[in-house]
Amino acid sequence: MKYSAWALVVIVSSVLSIRAQQQQQQQPPPSNDPAWAFPAVNGALPAEAAAPKSVPGSTKKYTPAEIDNLSSPPDWFPDDHPPAPAIVQQGHGAALACGACHLMSGEGHPESAGMTGFTAAYIVQQMADFKSGARKDAARMNAIAKDVSDEEARQAAEWFAALKPMPWTKVIEADTVPVTFVGQGRMRFLKPEGGTEPIGSRIITVPQDVERARSRDPRSGFTAYVPKGSIAKGKALVDTGGSGKTIACGICHGDALKGLGNVPRLAGLHPIYIARQLYLFKDGRRNGVDAQLMKKPVAKITDEDIVALSAYLASLP
Ligand code: HEC
Ligand code: HEC
Repeated sequence: MKYSAWALVVIVSSVLSIRAQQQQQQQPPPSNDPAWAFPAVNGALPAEAAAPKSVPGSTKKYTPAEIDNLSSPPDWFPDDHPPAPAIVQQGHGAALACGACHLMSGEGHPESAGMTGFTAAYIVQQMADFKSGARKDAARMNAIAKDVSDEEARQAAEWFAALKPMPWTKVIEADTVPVTFVGQGRMRFLKPEGGTEPIGSRIITVPQDVERARSRDPRSGFTAYVPKGSIAKGKALVDTGGSGKTIACGICHGDALKGLGNVPRLAGLHPIYIARQLYLFKDGRRNGVDAQLMKKPVAKITDEDIVALSAYLASLP
């Protein structure tokens, strides 16, 4: 009697533990996404007055509601760029207007992406990967790409590919950074009450001018604080591959990291965007045909290497 009761306990508990193991295997691994590279809203700037706003050098006026209309973003400087195809300026359905987040200069906000300095073929391929889900961006691009036609993707890609990259992010090494929070549009802002904190192993990007960034002004860029020493450490990894830790990036991305054929430029991209992509390649969330070439370069890099690579690459012209 005693013996069979024990046998039952053993059988039941081993069945339960096999179940638990199976469940664990079925669940995706816990996300290690660092909050600095994958910003999630945790605060808000005060709402703006509803009156029309302007930005330096432009004769145009838009209200905050017009500025934040993601299907019809402001075009402060229409003479700065060739006439844009409809999809860049006017969204439809889930296909929001590209110019809203990537700006009418293509330089983009840190939580989105720069779109200049790429070939049209590279951009078209990324849109196809977002559409198929081979490249994941649950926040924005997967839903947008689903509603963008191939013809619209091609037109947008050609327009962005013709834009010239401009200096956009100032990279500064620092031990301490202002205390910040992630507000409207997943942009990081300084806490109004001020204060500083250690940077740790993070990159902190804030607008150079909050008002102008909130206005989607394509002439007002960003400052990225990076840990002291990270730029030199990143340069060593990029140039040499760090004794087998990774592969010298220039082999594929070009000697000056300005892109080679359809392999994208890395020089001057938003540092937190670069970091996000390295994490996405690492765990297969970015898994298109061409992403296979990025598997080896990211296989052995650590969180600290990702900070260093992103800091150095963003600091390049
Ligand atoms: C509501 C904001 C938003 C709009 C509108 C938007 N995007 Fe994006 N886009 C993003 C975000 C966010 C990312 C970065 C995804 C990531 O971090 O992996 C991105 C990334 C991209 C990339 C990847 C760039 C690279 O270097 O690989 C491409 C290409 C792109 N978008 C194209 C477009 C096109 C074309 C449109 C217009 C049809 C558009 N986007 C509209 C938010 C937006
Ligand atoms: C063997 C060739 C190869 C090497 C070496 C390589 N890359 Fe790449 N990289 C690519 C290709 C191809 C893509 C485009 C992937 C895609 O289409 O999804 C890419 C894309 C990227 C992107 C995304 C850019 C964007 O705009 O979205 C980043 C960031 C990146 N590489 C960083 C690096 C770094 C850092 C190194 C060196 C440590 C490196 N790569 C080495 C081939 C390479």
